[in-house]
Amino acid sequence: MEARIITLPGDYIGPEIMREAVKVLKRVAQKYGHSFTFEERLLGGASIDAYGVPLTDETLAACNAADAVLMGSVGGPKWDNVPAAVRPEKGLLAIRKGMQVYANLRPCRIHPQLAGACPLRPDIIREPIDIMILRELTGDIYFGKRSRSEDRTQATDEMAYSVAEVERLARIGFEMAKKRRGKLCSVDKANVLECSRLWRETVQRLSAEYPEVEVSYMYVDNAAMQLILRPSQFDVIITGNLFGDILSDESAAIAGSLGMMPSASLGDGTRGLYEPIHGSAPDIAGKDIANPLGTILSGALLLRHSLGLEQEAAAIEKAVSEVLDAGFRTPDIYSEGKEKVGCIRMGDLVAERI
Ligand code: IPM
Ligand code: MG
Repeated sequence: MEARIITLPGDYIGPEIMREAVKVLKRVAQKYGHSFTFEERLLGGASIDAYGVPLTDETLAACNAADAVLMGSVGGPKWDNVPAAVRPEKGLLAIRKGMQVYANLRPCRIHPQLAGACPLRPDIIREPIDIMILRELTGDIYFGKRSRSEDRTQATDEMAYSVAEVERLARIGFEMAKKRRGKLCSVDKANVLECSRLWRETVQRLSAEYPEVEVSYMYVDNAAMQLILRPSQFDVIITGNLFGDILSDESAAIAGSLGMMPSASLGDGTRGLYEPIHGSAPDIAGKDIANPLGTILSGALLLRHSLGLEQEAAAIEKAVSEVLDAGFRTPDIYSEGKEKVGCIRMGDLVAERI
C-alpha cells in the first residue's frame, strides 16, 4: 500500500529517536512491499526557533492531510522562559486538538525480559500485567479557560466535559474491552467534581449497551493506589485528560522504563498521532544513548491503527522482543550481564530482525 506519513521529530532527543523509528518503518516497507513517504516538519521548540510559534497552521494542515503522524518529543530548558502562549507543550496540545485525536491509548505491559526493571515486588507482578489506559485527550482542564486576577494573586483553570466528549471516548473503551478481557474500569473523582459526576453517569448509561463488559468505577486516588498494589486487576481503564496524564506515567514506571512506552492518539476514522510517552530528555540529547524503542513501538501502533497493517505491526513488536531476548539494552534499561548499546545500534538491531 501507499501511505504518507508526517514526522515531527521535535526537540532534544526527538530527532535521534525519530531517525531510528523511520529506519524501522522503511525496512518494513521494503520487506512487505509498501511505499511509505515521509515528510518531516517542525513542532515544539524547533518550530518556535524557526517560526516563532510551536505549531504553524501549515504544519497542522499537513498533518490533517496525511495518513498518519509520528512524533518524537517536545520541550526543554531552552524554551522554559518563553511566554506560556508559545511554549513547546502548547504545540503538542494544539496538534492533538487540531487533529481531533481525542482517544489516547497508552498500553502498559511488562516485557518479560525487563521484569527486573519493574519497581514492584515480584509477588505483586506474578499475575500478568496487561493494561490499556485510554485517556481522553482533547478536553478537561487542559483546554478550559485560564485566568489570573488583576493583582496576579489568584489563578483559575476551568475543567469542563460534555456528555458527547465522554461518550465517544467511553465507546472506544467498551469496544476495546470486548476484544480484550471484557473488563472496563472508569476512573474519576465523582465524590468531589461535577465533571466526574457527569463522566460517571454517562459511562453508567452506556454500560447497558455492553452487557458483556464488566464495568467498575474507581476514584482516581484509589486507582493510583490499586495500580501499585494489584495492577493485574486492570484490563481497560478509561479516564479524563488530567487523571490519564498522571496514571499513565505511573503505569510506565510499573512497566520498567518510560523509554519503552508507545502511545496512539486516535479520532474518528483512521488518522492518528503516534508518540512515545516519554519527554525530550535534554540531559542525554546528542549522546546516542536515548532509547528509541518507545518511538519504534509507536511506529508499530501507527501501522496497526492508521494503516491497518496488523502483520507488519506485529513484526516490529516481535523484532523488539527478539532484540531484548538477545540481551541488548540501552542504558535506561541496562542491567548486569546484558550488552549495552546506543540509540543508533538499537535501531539497527530492530531493523535487521524485520
Ligand atoms: C504527556 C505529556 C504532555 C501532557 C505534556 C508535555 C503537555 O505529559 O503526553 O503525557 O500533559 O499531555
Ligand atoms: Mg504526561
